[in-house]
Amino acid sequence: MMNSDKTEPAVKLTKDGSTTLFSSLFNQYYHNPNGAVAESRHVFFETTNLAGLLRSDKPLTIFETGFGTGLNLVLCLDYIRQSLRKIPVTFKSVEAYPIKAQTARDLSFGSESFLNKQVPVLAEIFDGLKPGMNQAGINPLLKLELFWGKFEDTPDFSENHIADKNLASFILHDPFSPDVNPGLWTPDVFKQLYQISTSDAILATYCAATSARAAMAVANWNVARARGALGKREMTIASKSAEKLLTFKRLNENRLKERFEKGDFG
Ligand SMILES: C[S@@+](CC[C@H](N)C(=O)[O-])C[C@H]1O[C@@H](n2cnc3c(N)ncnc32)[C@H](O)[C@@H]1O
Repeated sequence: MMNSDKTEPAVKLTKDGSTTLFSSLFNQYYHNPNGAVAESRHVFFETTNLAGLLRSDKPLTIFETGFGTGLNLVLCLDYIRQSLRKIPVTFKSVEAYPIKAQTARDLSFGSESFLNKQVPVLAEIFDGLKPGMNQAGINPLLKLELFWGKFEDTPDFSENHIADKNLASFILHDPFSPDVNPGLWTPDVFKQLYQISTSDAILATYCAATSARAAMAVANWNVARARGALGKREMTIASKSAEKLLTFKRLNENRLKERFEKGDFG
């Protein structure tokens, strides 16, 4: 059934056979039109080695900015099911404009039958969502904490996060791009993400904009470039620990900070 609400994101097919959404509010696709599943696997799970950690039995908390379709949650389930993991993973996410359950029902993950079987799980999450914090046990090995609200307008968000001592070792920074959603690419946002992370946390984003990298540097993240997904030249990977970036091409954070402070990015 198609959605007739004009503000509701529209379902679009991407080139790997999986669907994404197009937001008329932000005038942007949720994923690379060349492949939603392929892009998410590359940027958030393979480049960062989050896939490897999910398959291990280490304690793990993930934080995502922009729950969107829920694809990253479903990909976590996929990596966990291929593992011998016994310790649950916590997946924390924040979403200002949740989609309707019906839109979730119209999603498809192409040829990946396990992912497709999770569509009703996603629909159920969106169906029961309330403003503020929502918690769900997706299965015994994956707990979801999904905050319905704007990340930057929720000053107690990091306090709550820190209070439960469940710091994130992976940050999946996935809001829309800085040109259409500048509020989520500021030093303040990256400082908040820094506060809720472990000392060796990794932050990944598809975005390669110098202004975004400079905002991360101002917030004290070490920053590096990595190969982008599906024909995109670059993405960005950052960490609190320089050691975690040894296999990537590091950027000059001091130069980025200087440029930011000089006002090079408006
Ligand atoms: C690129 S999409 C996320 C894609 C998602 N991770 C997925 O796999 O489907 C960006 C998401 O960020 C959300 N968003 C935009 N601004 C936000 C804000 N200020 N606070 C929280 N969420 C926001 C949008 O509503 C959208 O769902």
